[in-house]
Amino acid sequence: MIKKTIAAVSLSILSFTLNAQQKEKTYTGPKLNKTEMNKTVSSLLDKMTIEEKIGQLNLLNPGGGVATGAVVSDNVQQKIKDGNVGGLFGVSGPEKIRIAQEYAVNDTRLGIPLLIGSDVIHGYKTTFPIPLGTAASWNMELIKQSAQVAATEATADGINWNFSPMVDVSRDPRWGRVAEGAGEDAYLGSQIARAMIEGYQGDDLTKTNTMIATVKHFALYGAPEAGRDYNSVDMSRVKMFNQYLPPYKAAIDAGVASVMTSFNDVDGVPATGNKWLLTDLLRERWKFDGFVVSDYTSVNEMIAHGMGDLQDVSALALKAGLDMDMVGEGFVTTLKKSLEEGRVTEEEITTAAKRILEAKYKLGLFEDPYKYLDKKRVKKDILTKKHRALAREVAANSFVLLKKDQQVLPIDKKAKVALIGPLANDKNNMPGTWSPTGDFDNAIPVLEGLKNVAPKAKITYAKGANITNDKQMAENVNVFGPKIVISEKSPEELLAEALKVAQEADVIVAVVGEASEMSGEAASRTNLLIPESQKKLIRELAKTGKPMVLVLMSGRPLNISEEAQLPVDILQVWHPGVEAGNAIGDVIFGDYNPSGKLTASWPRNVGQVPVYYSMKTTGRPGTQDGFEKFKSKYIDVDNSPLFPFGYGLSYTDFEYTNMQLSSKEMNMNGSITVTTTIKNTGDYDGEEVVQLYIHDKVRSITPPQKQLIGFQKIEIKKGKSKTVTFTISAEDLKFYNSSLDFIAEPGEFEVFIGTSSSDNNQMKTFILKE
Ligand code: BGC
Repeated sequence: MIKKTIAAVSLSILSFTLNAQQKEKTYTGPKLNKTEMNKTVSSLLDKMTIEEKIGQLNLLNPGGGVATGAVVSDNVQQKIKDGNVGGLFGVSGPEKIRIAQEYAVNDTRLGIPLLIGSDVIHGYKTTFPIPLGTAASWNMELIKQSAQVAATEATADGINWNFSPMVDVSRDPRWGRVAEGAGEDAYLGSQIARAMIEGYQGDDLTKTNTMIATVKHFALYGAPEAGRDYNSVDMSRVKMFNQYLPPYKAAIDAGVASVMTSFNDVDGVPATGNKWLLTDLLRERWKFDGFVVSDYTSVNEMIAHGMGDLQDVSALALKAGLDMDMVGEGFVTTLKKSLEEGRVTEEEITTAAKRILEAKYKLGLFEDPYKYLDKKRVKKDILTKKHRALAREVAANSFVLLKKDQQVLPIDKKAKVALIGPLANDKNNMPGTWSPTGDFDNAIPVLEGLKNVAPKAKITYAKGANITNDKQMAENVNVFGPKIVISEKSPEELLAEALKVAQEADVIVAVVGEASEMSGEAASRTNLLIPESQKKLIRELAKTGKPMVLVLMSGRPLNISEEAQLPVDILQVWHPGVEAGNAIGDVIFGDYNPSGKLTASWPRNVGQVPVYYSMKTTGRPGTQDGFEKFKSKYIDVDNSPLFPFGYGLSYTDFEYTNMQLSSKEMNMNGSITVTTTIKNTGDYDGEEVVQLYIHDKVRSITPPQKQLIGFQKIEIKKGKSKTVTFTISAEDLKFYNSSLDFIAEPGEFEVFIGTSSSDNNQMKTFILKE
């Protein structure tokens, strides 16, 4: 609600003059030298009044969002001039940002520049696939490069602080924001967190093409009860330490400069006011030395959580360790009063202000507040050919071939193709959820992409069905624009057109699935099916008996148990970003052989949720085949997911043989190597993600069935073999025990190496000795 009000306020934006007078300010240089930083920041703090310090803790969104081109509203303008603002977000473009920055630099007593934030979640103008898709590439180098491109483009547009990466582990596809993360696994999520932070922040934050990254949402935001966004989270410490916290910690270890709190409670205390989380764990145990920002009005939301009035919750948040208050203005309106009443200390306010000033120092803003405001860069650095080429490559790498038993793919470039489906000629849904900085008009629809890649193919198109016929669903999804357009034609007419087009073709390519805003923030679903309008289309098309491929778009794992039974091949393409159509063309016509692997299990039905590869065995493990009473099994479906974590096919086939361990024993300070040979036995060159899992057979807390501890993505030419080697040390075998100590316990371990988390063909054991 608050968001909407603010957006409305932005409509009354005043225009600004660009020629605000520039006062001379002297700043100490931005060398990333802690002593220098301390000197600069301390001397500044010494000069600051309590109001000025509190002002630094205030983050505002002038409204309208980047996409609608908002500038700074009158109110925000005055607040900046009054020294009551430490940063802004939702403003873009060097000209507008310069105006805001000039108010801060020229019109306030101390001239402290602003942080300029933005949600650059999967690319800026060059949108990459949604993060769940990018993760499925398992290609850390490409992920890092996509973050570098995002940083280059965002900084060219004046942004110096990014609200990404979101590293919330999620095992609940009902939760819409599963689209924004890396999936179900803490180890893989940690690698991706690191790659993204390295991409955004680079090795030098003072450069003009790097920006501060924010790891979010701290913590456990991906585990809301019932998959409903913003809902309560309750989990044991042992579970959070082992399965949910590692990616946040990996981000801290990678040097992320800011942390965003989450909306949910943790152990009954909202994250934004949770001292255990923000101070004991984050600062004391993990040694985080950057700044912590709240999520959007999450300070104020502690009122609804039941933690008191605005003054109470603001004091609670500050004392817990929150440094910056996003949008809600609880800090700026109540902290001084709380100080006077002895409810917070001056030291607490100073500490928070110090962290914000340090961030500004790290960026080099004190030396040059306008360093990101070079208008020439907008043309030179944004949506370049090179960036688009990378987006196309990343998208192709993110696609997961779920089913190929019909051998329809790849399609001949001269074939007669019936391209059918509500997402087959669509721009609006291609960038995917949470791409507010992107521009749908730049996206390549599938129809256009297929024509680009195979100009000699005869491609005919029909919409075939609406994404959904449910008007209420369409309204709920279309809050930020038309993602679901219900045709004026009747469903029967749409279907008839599709069947006609299908009859005349050699092969059917049906592009179906979710609209982009059926996932994302506040887009939880209790039903994971493809909407019924499209299920019907798929059934009817399959009945034609023509060779058929489903190109499936979604922001989450879906339940496609029905479609998986049909005589079709299935390629999962998520929401692929600005180069959607071209990347799909590359894969459909065989220029790129799919290599993606799922990073979240796909359930057989929603009742299995959560279903994930690293579940515990239980004391009564479910048998693989058939039903047995008094085992941990369902009476109606198998325990296994439809498609497991790590699963994904290729146009070629890979054969794993000859797994070897260098030893049957290992000391605590030793290591062993695991090798296997992989042969490409099919007809295409291809890439494979080789996965290494362990199962700790005996330990002091119940172990997961399997746990990923390594992976390598390799390329193998057809007919050739490669040997892959992993080294395992005790560090890889560690876990948090019930005292939350991170240890490896001696005993027997099983090691698996294979093509997915459910591949048990190659297993060896070794003993870890005292
Ligand atoms: C989201 C955050 C985002 C923030 C600012 C919130 O609603 O949860 O992920 O960074 O808005 O746009």
